[in-house]
Amino acid sequence: AAVDLDKCFEVVNELVNKAGAIIARRNETRQEFVCKQGDIDLVTETDKEVENLLMNGIKEQFPDHKFIGEEESSAEGAPKKLTDAPTWIIDPVDGTMNFVHAFPHSCISVGLVVNKVTELGIVYNPMLQQRFTARRGQGAFYNGKPIKVSGQKDLAKALITSEFGTTRDPEKMKVVNENFQKMAAKAHGLRVLGSAALNMSMVALGAADANYEFGIHAWDVCAGDIIVREAGGVVIDPAGGEFDMMSRRVLAASSTELAQEIAKTLTQFYPQPRDD
Ligand code: IPD
Repeated sequence: AAVDLDKCFEVVNELVNKAGAIIARRNETRQEFVCKQGDIDLVTETDKEVENLLMNGIKEQFPDHKFIGEEESSAEGAPKKLTDAPTWIIDPVDGTMNFVHAFPHSCISVGLVVNKVTELGIVYNPMLQQRFTARRGQGAFYNGKPIKVSGQKDLAKALITSEFGTTRDPEKMKVVNENFQKMAAKAHGLRVLGSAALNMSMVALGAADANYEFGIHAWDVCAGDIIVREAGGVVIDPAGGEFDMMSRRVLAASSTELAQEIAKTLTQFYPQPRDD
């Protein structure tokens, strides 16, 4: 059956409002957490509660839709094959480290993929009430107002975001540090704010000019990808090829020229295992 994307968008916006209210309230105090893979990969009760709220709400309306969720897949521990079925890709709290510290910079990130094409995305920071939305072919919006990337082409004038990531694996950290050094030397500025989805949204807003990261997951970047592209930006693989949502690698930029310049500059890393 055809997917009613208008209804999908409406339903997910309402659920995100409810979920956002929970996150914003809990963010007033520091949160208890447990470690997942290592001591800096965190999950809280709120991550699980919000994921359930979103998944149950969607299932009620669209019983045959599928899910790839951060806590859902870690619970099952199984890789997720992306099929042609309508699939919601959900990070209930992106920026969990910030959330446990009550640093008000985390978000809900939700994308809907149909026939392996992302149709819509929402990134919502309920603490600061920043809502980024996009639907395929309809542009990107910040709190309902259309947004555009900066169009910056020159790395020397670009504000770049990236992350330390959620592992202290020495090989990975070596690459992270090497790339921070390169960017600090070549870019206009470098920021590490703690949420992959918000990093990408800042590129869409034209507030940052590019974001790259090795080690992200599909749920961190699915919504951000469509929001950046609908704002006129580009999302590619950090080595310069086509973006692969399950590869755990991303590079978003305000222009093709900037994306390719960053791709040439970066020391490459291929996180294992992939998401699928
Ligand atoms: C993480 C955050 C972090 C980024 C990681 C993500 P989570 O998501 O976005 O900034 O470095 O790659 O996995 O675990 O907070 O949902």
